[in-house]
Amino acid sequence: MSESYLTTPIYYINAQPHIGHAYTTMLTDAIARSRRLMGDDVFFLTGTDEHGQKVDRAAQKANLPTPQFADQVSAAFRQMCRDLKISNDDFIRTTEPRHFKAAQEIWRRVQRAGDIYKGEYEGWYCTVDEIFVPEAQLVDGKCPTCGSKVERLKEESYYFRLSKYEKPLLDFYRDHPDFIQPDFRLNEVRTFVEAGLQDLSISRTSFKWGIPVPDDPKHVMYVWFDALTNYLTALGFGSGDAGAEERIARWWPTVTHFIGKEIVRQHALYWPAFLMSAGMPVPHRIVAHGFWMMGGAKMSKSLGNVARYQDYAGIFGLDGLRYFVMREMPIGQDASFSDEAILTRFNADLANDLGNLVSRAITMIHRYRDGRVPSSPVESRDALDTDLVAATTATIESVKAAFSEIEVSQALQDTWALVSRVNKYIVERAPWVLAKDAANDATLDRTLYHAADTLRVIAALVDPVMPDAAGRIRAMLSIDSAEPWTSLKAGTLAAGAQLRPVEALFPRIEKTIEELRGMTTPNEPTPASATTPGTPSPAAPAPAAAPAPAPPAATDSRISIEDFMKVELRVAKVLEAEAVPKSKKLIKLKVDAGEPEPRTIVAGIAEAYQPDQLVGRTIAIVANLKPAKLMGIESNGMVLAASPEGGLPNLVAVDPSLPAGSRVR
Ligand code: MSP
Repeated sequence: MSESYLTTPIYYINAQPHIGHAYTTMLTDAIARSRRLMGDDVFFLTGTDEHGQKVDRAAQKANLPTPQFADQVSAAFRQMCRDLKISNDDFIRTTEPRHFKAAQEIWRRVQRAGDIYKGEYEGWYCTVDEIFVPEAQLVDGKCPTCGSKVERLKEESYYFRLSKYEKPLLDFYRDHPDFIQPDFRLNEVRTFVEAGLQDLSISRTSFKWGIPVPDDPKHVMYVWFDALTNYLTALGFGSGDAGAEERIARWWPTVTHFIGKEIVRQHALYWPAFLMSAGMPVPHRIVAHGFWMMGGAKMSKSLGNVARYQDYAGIFGLDGLRYFVMREMPIGQDASFSDEAILTRFNADLANDLGNLVSRAITMIHRYRDGRVPSSPVESRDALDTDLVAATTATIESVKAAFSEIEVSQALQDTWALVSRVNKYIVERAPWVLAKDAANDATLDRTLYHAADTLRVIAALVDPVMPDAAGRIRAMLSIDSAEPWTSLKAGTLAAGAQLRPVEALFPRIEKTIEELRGMTTPNEPTPASATTPGTPSPAAPAPAAAPAPAPPAATDSRISIEDFMKVELRVAKVLEAEAVPKSKKLIKLKVDAGEPEPRTIVAGIAEAYQPDQLVGRTIAIVANLKPAKLMGIESNGMVLAASPEGGLPNLVAVDPSLPAGSRVR
């Protein structure tokens, strides 16, 4: 077994958490979960960075004593971890006594190494980023990183001999080309160091909200000196506790810091230099991801363009949110967060692709084999079966490799290629045709077996990103616990298992962007719990309701219940779908409406759906409509779909667990 120590940045508490903070935390969580599935022992740390002038000022603005303000906002970050089902092992606050001890211990070690001296700092400071900015780097007199106004400082200060570490850092970068992922970030840091390093001011005297410098409490430590040490605090550094040495020796050499790209310099330059000075090993790896952009700019509290994680987890569920951010952002690149993007991905990838596969595979086993998993003897498999097994085996390997390289988006793409592959396998086999003739029993058995078995593998592969969905798929397959990736193989689902009833995994979200916008609050968040899709979270403020449509005027066009009951609405399952040649709008469907034979319905939905998105869906139809000929094809019924004004039709959502033929009334 090997160890993995994984950390997120500790977040400033001058503002409430938003999707940007949630992302790094969810990414680190997905990696932590994948490592546990690989059999690693994981220690996962997150927390809050509570000192510094920025936090002090935010507390003053909120009219609260700084410690009380710190407690409140730190609690919102802790709540975020609970809301997002983050599997962290510790949550650190830099205001805790254990952290004071660690920061003062590292200061003393650096001092003993002769790397701290007293001087005077005169220059510019950016309070938003908590960084000293050399005059030459100002852009129009403002901070080059965030564009905020900088302040002139002139005060006594302790300095760290950063210049002494120029060569040791360059040697280290040369010997560890994989130190930062993606690697081009290492080149940026190297270029910066090559240009020459100046000593770094590491204490302040003009405010008190920080960790006192040992033996000179007039000074508080520079917030980054304090903050970076948190990664060691959590292992017991400076505590003098029994076992701390051993914990440090065990975990520290394995540490990977997950951060946003704007704090690479602090992690890849200052931090290794402090550690070298203190006689400690340099971190194993730094993973620097890009920015979530909103409306073309970095999502940030200072710009006011933040999205609340609570809103999106409330609408799309935790799994929906986690899937979207992991799929949409390859490591190192920026990505756009928008309502359109998340809605499209949710409906296409989760509701259509994965959701339909789950409901199809499990429903068919219930329908054709009374819910018992049939068997697929190896010797009776044909090329279609063995190809699917081979594709599944290859996907297990590629997903494991992608997770170990922290390429989560790639892992999800590979998994979805397998989802499409199984859907295609089912369509090619057409179990609904096989089921008509007992001569096909063995083929039908194998088909149902491999569909369910591949679904089991897919559940295991999505587990780090979508732990709830993985558990729900396993529950339908009557599998009790998560499968370790070390033994995950195609073809090991136990034949004879009795499946549980199918449940809708990701019901399609039939909302317009405007309706969605009415449910999200673009600005200042309130900490709240997030729940499954559609369920307002208990602590969340009630979503702003979309304006209610005016009630239809009461006229004589109203009908009686008897009139309504004349329309026979029924649940149907789409068995086959094909485009009608030479028609832009029409699709020919073969549906199972619970009758002895499937019926044909021609539906005007081709502009909104691809035929292969429809197979396996559960829909509602008007079953007692007189037959009509459309483009020469006789249509026996009508599918129910709703179209927004001027928009494309959306099929009316029906719970896929409903048996074909159920009456809708
Ligand atoms: N307190 C420091 C970090 C100290 S670590 C020893 C800090 N805090 S922060 O609250 O500003 O959080 C910054 C981190 O939050 C980023 O590095 C990133 O992980 C995450 N993000 C905040 N906004 C983000 C985006 N718009 N996009 C992606 N990640 C973002 O810096």
